[in-house]
Amino acid sequence: MLIACNWKSYVETREKAKALYATAKRLGAVKRVKLVLIPSAPHLGLLAPLNRSKVLFGVQDVTAVNEAAATGEISAATARSVGATYAIVGHSERRAKGETDAIVAEKVKRVLANGLIPILCIGEKVRDEDATYLSTLKQQLMIALDGLAPKDRSRVVIAYEPIWAIGKHADQSITEPDLAEMVLYIKKIMGEVETGKPAKNLVLYGGSVEAENIRSLAGGSGIDGFLIGHASTDPKTFTAVVKALA
Ligand code: PGA
Repeated sequence: MLIACNWKSYVETREKAKALYATAKRLGAVKRVKLVLIPSAPHLGLLAPLNRSKVLFGVQDVTAVNEAAATGEISAATARSVGATYAIVGHSERRAKGETDAIVAEKVKRVLANGLIPILCIGEKVRDEDATYLSTLKQQLMIALDGLAPKDRSRVVIAYEPIWAIGKHADQSITEPDLAEMVLYIKKIMGEVETGKPAKNLVLYGGSVEAENIRSLAGGSGIDGFLIGHASTDPKTFTAVVKALA
């Protein structure tokens, strides 16, 4: 299971960042679990260059523009140079600030071109009764993957993160049967993109994953891992959530 920990802006001191990293190194020994820490950019620069452990690192966002004159932006090349392996692209909190599917597609290309693995976030705002959210997801996927060579496409990790489930609690998260359906749906679309061959892409789920629900969500849903926000930003809850999988 791939467990990607999206610290967002929850972690505001180097002491806390270091404590979480130390926890992750201990948890790295948990069987079947591969941990990816995704801190803020300053904390990525603090922790990743010295990392010799099994824990991997990612960056929360990268710039879509290929220009050095881009104040405040972080390029995929910069993130790579300090030790990132993964990059989140198209998180709903970035999309809410105006990031379009076209910008997301640019970022996916830039991430791949610089040797990082994109964690492409897709997700609907609401689950309407007519299931139009399924076409929203399909569109997000198709635009983001458009024009990629099959080899690049297969490296993209897809994170299904329904917006209605983000930042809440386990009891307001998706249910295991609904998640199983969504995993099938996403894998079906990916199979269509690969013109009939089963797609190899990993599919993660994110949205209020906590110690209380991670095990049931993992069992039988076909999911390959999780993108965890708030529950990954405190050593105690982080430990509980990873150990719940063991
Ligand atoms: P959450 O966040 O676990 O706090 O719901 C997940 C995410 O937004 O990646």
